[in-house]
Amino acid sequence: MDFQARLEALTHQLQPWSPLWSRSILQGWPESVASYPEDWLAYARSLDEAGERRLDQGALVDTPPASLSALLGALEELTALPWHEGRHPLTVMERQGLSDKKAHELERMLSLLGPRTRAIQQAVDIGGGMGHLARLCARTFGWTFHSIDRDAALQDKGRRWLTRTRPSGEDTLCFIQASVEDGLQPRIDPLFSGQDRASLGLHTCGPLALTQIRKSQGAGFVLNIGCCYDKLELPRDYPVSRVGREHPLPFTPHALALTTRGRPRKTDAEFARMKRVYAWRFAFHLLAKQHFPEQDFVRAGDAPKGLYDGPFALYARDRLERLGLDTSLTVAQLEAFEVSVRAETRDLLLCHLLRDRFARALEVVLLLDRAMLLEELGFAVDLLQLFEPRLSPRNLVLIASRST
Ligand SMILES: C[S@@+](CC[C@H](N)C(=O)[O-])C[C@H]1O[C@@H](n2cnc3c(N)ncnc32)[C@H](O)[C@@H]1O
Repeated sequence: MDFQARLEALTHQLQPWSPLWSRSILQGWPESVASYPEDWLAYARSLDEAGERRLDQGALVDTPPASLSALLGALEELTALPWHEGRHPLTVMERQGLSDKKAHELERMLSLLGPRTRAIQQAVDIGGGMGHLARLCARTFGWTFHSIDRDAALQDKGRRWLTRTRPSGEDTLCFIQASVEDGLQPRIDPLFSGQDRASLGLHTCGPLALTQIRKSQGAGFVLNIGCCYDKLELPRDYPVSRVGREHPLPFTPHALALTTRGRPRKTDAEFARMKRVYAWRFAFHLLAKQHFPEQDFVRAGDAPKGLYDGPFALYARDRLERLGLDTSLTVAQLEAFEVSVRAETRDLLLCHLLRDRFARALEVVLLLDRAMLLEELGFAVDLLQLFEPRLSPRNLVLIASRST
């Protein structure tokens, strides 16, 4: 793939809309609504429940504004990436104790790795957690494997798992408890270097993906799947490639948080749930603004799940108490307040549905930038979709081999 052309085309589409995707809707409300074209809002307001659901899936019903359909069409085309759909079926024994998500990820990864790693003898997994990937790779491919994680408790669990599933102890897997950092680390750095060595990272949070890439410049093969982009630090972690620096987008912490929300295939129940959570959150935000104007942005935070199923008043009371705010408003007053702001909370929802359309494109921009960094380091690089988004939405994999 021509990463540079793809990045330039995406930048061209995204740049004009940066006031919309780079800022928080709620924190800037009501001024933030000004970034949304009037005809987009009028269209969104005209949607019924099914239309809202379709918008959340990136589809436009009826007669959408031309600028919106042109933009969504372009973003869909530019975020389309090839799939690796093969799977290496795990045995019943191998699946034991794994969630469906983890089993799916491992089956896809083993099938991806097999044909691409014939020259590999040794591998290291960065942020390897309990070592599921390491254990299965060691057993499937016969590699010597080091699984590095800073969480000693997770690794202890992994060691127990290992001895339970193969008590004879012939595994060629070693856990190393260490925090992987940029800069020299003589104990672990050699594990990332050598033509017969693979460096793997499955859901390396935030900047850990970049640390892996930089440490693996001497490896024969690198695989990285990122996640938690909201943990990246700007401008340190984006842009990281030369081409990326020539075409920078104005990412902000709010835009990074948006990239972690790309989740196109919600079920009806998940969508209804999201709407309810948003409705209570937004109404609470408006309540706090009106009754406690002296407070800066009041963060409602995550409430116990059951509170979103009940009346607004119970949710609001709970949040007010947790935040140490005056709770003298009666149940009837709180309920009446929620009803009185429904048109506004719907607008807030609609703005979120529109802004969410940018999430995947922004995620792809971050990964194109990483792909080009790997190319600049001399690797031949692929960027593929690997996991079914319903099971594992952060599903994009970077694969880099030494070009010979
Ligand atoms: C999202 S989890 C992924 C775990 C595992 N790869 C998986 O997919 O199940 C990220 C892991 O990275 C580890 N981690 C995060 N930052 C790290 C660092 N700087 N050095 C070592 N491990 C780190 C965490 O302890 C955690 O186990």
